Amino acid sequence: MPNNTLPMPATQATTLPPTPHLMIPGPTPLPESVRLAMGRPGIGHRSPEFGQVLERVYPALQTVFGTTQPVFVFTASGTAAMEAAMVNTLNRGDAVLVLVCGVFSGRWATMATKLGMAVDTITVPPGEANTLTSLQHALANKPNHYKAVVLTHSETSTGVLNDIEPMLAAISGYGALSMVDAVTSMGATPFPVDTWGADLVMSGSQKGFMMPPGLSFLSVSQNAWAAYERCDYPGLYFDFGAYKKAQDAFSTPYTPATHLYMALDEALQIMLTEGMPNVWARHRGLRNTIRQGATQLGLELLVSDDHHASDAVTSIKAPTHMDVPTIRAGLKNTHGIVVANGQKELKDTIIRIGHLGYQTQREATMVLSALQQVLTP
Ligand SMILES: Cc1ncc(COP(=O)(O)O)c(C=O)c1O
Repeated sequence: MPNNTLPMPATQATTLPPTPHLMIPGPTPLPESVRLAMGRPGIGHRSPEFGQVLERVYPALQTVFGTTQPVFVFTASGTAAMEAAMVNTLNRGDAVLVLVCGVFSGRWATMATKLGMAVDTITVPPGEANTLTSLQHALANKPNHYKAVVLTHSETSTGVLNDIEPMLAAISGYGALSMVDAVTSMGATPFPVDTWGADLVMSGSQKGFMMPPGLSFLSVSQNAWAAYERCDYPGLYFDFGAYKKAQDAFSTPYTPATHLYMALDEALQIMLTEGMPNVWARHRGLRNTIRQGATQLGLELLVSDDHHASDAVTSIKAPTHMDVPTIRAGLKNTHGIVVANGQKELKDTIIRIGHLGYQTQREATMVLSALQQVLTP
């Protein structure tokens, strides 16, 4: 039998044909050193060597979050960190206000309802941002009612960036806890957690952190800690107390995903070496290039207002002459670039170009050029 009919060994099968370039809003491409970090030999999670990884990771995460409060790491995706925030600080029946502007912010309302909270929502149409005025009205209408307000910084399903700084001030003035989904904003957009006074802020590894999925991060303020001490929600795995005790000893409460932590160690060093202001500026530059380029191609942006446009993902409406599946197939099959489609009611209306994490102007130019060729009849 000639050699070329033999089954491809697994190592070659993964490199031929080349892996497509991911421009979805997470998972993102991985820097080589992050990939190599995951190829290291096994390591004991209670060993001094792993302790050294944690000694670097915990403070580096605090730097990225702009906080002196603990940032817990969960061996679970971003949704788990949100659930951890709720079950550690709220009790059944507590009133929660969720600002909804898309699929992910909507998920928090579903979660709070499932957990037995009394949920109110303020919902805006897809592509629009939540407003400070509607939040202020809702808080004023029900004084001392809400125990927590949930905000989504970058709504990944639409590409909206909510202006959360004044909203956080309104929430703390009202005396409620703030919970902020920063899954696609942390590491892409400035969000100084302590300066803006956010209580519980979560993110995920497969986004601005240039890592595979599997870890999530959650910062916990002193107010949130006080709420934890009043909370009688049952739970073990996500119990803040266990994470705090372990973190103070540069350890973890349960068996962590050791190789993801080693990848995180590497990714955080890359981010801090670049410098967070430079990381944010790079993302803003990518956003601007893609928004301007799409407009020059005659395409319409879902988020028309630059002020509310995410630094992580840009939603572009499909033109009348070509549908979303055809555009995505052209980008992938001819140019080796994967972009996302819309979700739910936007499924066949928009493409979403992810430009967070390990991406540069080179990739922005590449995707725009490929898009132009795909759209040309
Ligand atoms: C804004 C936002 N929130 C929450 C999530 C859920 O995170 P995960 O899929 O890591 O659980 C995502 C995932 O894309 C997201 O973009």
